[in-house]
Amino acid sequence: MIRCERVSLRYSLKDGPDVLRELSFEVPEGGFRWLLGPSGAGKTSLLRLLYLAARPTSGRLSVLGTDIGSASRSKLALLRRRIGVVFQDFRLLPHLSAFDNVALPLRISGRPEGQIRADVNEMLRWVGLYALRHVTPPALSGGEQQRVAIARAVISRPDILLADEPTGNLDEVQAQRLLQLFHELNRLGTTVIVATHNIGLVQDYPAPTLRLQAGRLVEERVTEDA
Ligand SMILES: Nc1ncnc2c1ncn2[C@@H]1O[C@H](COP(=O)(O)OP(=O)(O)O)[C@@H](O)[C@H]1O
Ligand SMILES: [Mg+2]
Repeated sequence: MIRCERVSLRYSLKDGPDVLRELSFEVPEGGFRWLLGPSGAGKTSLLRLLYLAARPTSGRLSVLGTDIGSASRSKLALLRRRIGVVFQDFRLLPHLSAFDNVALPLRISGRPEGQIRADVNEMLRWVGLYALRHVTPPALSGGEQQRVAIARAVISRPDILLADEPTGNLDEVQAQRLLQLFHELNRLGTTVIVATHNIGLVQDYPAPTLRLQAGRLVEERVTEDA
């Protein structure tokens, strides 16, 4: 599903530092992982590799059965559609309503509009934004925008969900609710990786951990049933 073999990443090809250093790990299909580590450890960089926005400087990365180093652009584009991402900075489209932002992945994959309306409205109710469905992101609070971003990432039931500090703008009740959503998706077969600083949440939802420190994987704690 996801396999890293001695994967390193350097942003500046000349003489910059390796921001990720020889990471080796595997996440099986349907697995759940917490991605932990202090600010600057490389969590976002690792997620960028996994959602195929960057390629490893060295090492081998395989995602959904495809070797990323040798895949064509069109193959990568198709793979990306199977990956839902909650960006740390949301990346919503500012001129589209909350509804249309969440509907976007379904429209791209050509679902019928009637089904889209039902699915998106149900998702917006779940994240508590149904009443705000016609509002555009600039008029929403940080927490509301974050919930739109989460709804958009999960709406098409991706094979992989990558979430970068998805509860940073949420209160505890909302954070718990979103974790329930991630777990439900995981139960249905989605592989989930969540970068977080929310230790309370990690304690409430025990799962195997990938811990980064200064670009290195310093802990890979895997429990028996995962
Ligand atoms: N686009 C970039 N260009 C150069 N360096 C970057 C870039 N993005 C992140 N970095 C550097 O990579 C390291 C890891 O950053 P990041 O992956 O954002 O860590 P985290 O998400 O754990 O806070 C940091 O030293 C950061 O400054
Ligand atoms: Mg980050």
